[in-house]
Amino acid sequence: MEVIIRPNEDAASLLVARIIARELRARPQLVLGLATGRTMERVYGHLVRMHRDEGLDFSLCRTFNLDEYIGLAPDDPRSYRHYMNHHLFDRVNIDRRNTHLPNGLAADLGAECRHYEDLIRDCGGIDLQLLGIGRSGHIGFNEPLSALRSRTRDKALTPETIAQNAPMFGGDAASVPRRAMTMGVGTILESGRCLVLATGLEKAAIVAQAVEGPITSSITASALQLHPRCTVVVDEAAATGLKGTDYYRWIFENEPEWAEFRR
Ligand code: GLP
Repeated sequence: MEVIIRPNEDAASLLVARIIARELRARPQLVLGLATGRTMERVYGHLVRMHRDEGLDFSLCRTFNLDEYIGLAPDDPRSYRHYMNHHLFDRVNIDRRNTHLPNGLAADLGAECRHYEDLIRDCGGIDLQLLGIGRSGHIGFNEPLSALRSRTRDKALTPETIAQNAPMFGGDAASVPRRAMTMGVGTILESGRCLVLATGLEKAAIVAQAVEGPITSSITASALQLHPRCTVVVDEAAATGLKGTDYYRWIFENEPEWAEFRR
C-alpha cells in the first residue's frame, strides 16, 4: 500500500483522475472498476474535462461499478446507474453497452450477483478499481463483518451508512433503500490495482484505521492492506489521523513512478 497526500480535495481528485487517464492511455481496453459517492464527483469532473480538452478516449473501455441499491430502477435519479450516467457516461465517448452495474430490480438477486461475477471474469478481470471509503469503513457496500473473501452479493446497510447517504435521498433516511448489491471484498482484492480516494476531516479517523490499523472485517477497507498494488490518495484533512505522513511524503517526492504526477 502507498499513501499520497495532496494539499486539498481538488488536487487529490485530480491526481486520481490522472492515474486513471495514464492507465487508460496505456491500455484503451482497460477494465475499470468504478465507485459512486460525493467524493468521486470531482474525479469524474476531471475525467470529463480530460476527454473534452485532451482527447482522453473511453471508446474501448469497459466498466464495472462496485454496487447498486436494491429496489431502485436504473432511471431512478437516486440509483447509482443514474449517478454514473449523469457524472460520467453521458459526458464521454464510452459505449453504454460496455458499462455495467448490478441490476437493482433483478427478481433473483443471487442469480444477478453470480451473473455480475461472470461478466467481470469474462472481461478478464478488473484492471483498475476506484474506491471510496464510507464512514463505517466500508468499500463498496461491504459493511462491518463482511467476509474478507466475500463475492458479489446483497447486503443490509448499516444505520450509519443509511444516514451518510440520506442527503442523496432528499435528506430523508427513511427513503434510503435498506439493502444493496455489492462486489465482495474478495472480488475487489482480485483487481489488478486498487486506487482509493478519501477527502475531508470526516474521513480522517477511518482512513487512519484502514491504512495503519489491524486488518479486520470490522473495517473492510483495511483488507486493502493485503492488495499487492493499492494506492490511497488523501487530502491534508483526511490525512490528519495518520502517523506515517513524513514517510508517505518522502516516497511521493522520491519514487520515480510518481515523477510525472509531482508537476
Ligand atoms: C457509498 C458507496 C461507497 C462510497 C461511499 C463514500 O456508501 N457505496 O462506494 O465509497 O458511499 O461516499 P462519499 O464519497 O459520499 O463519502
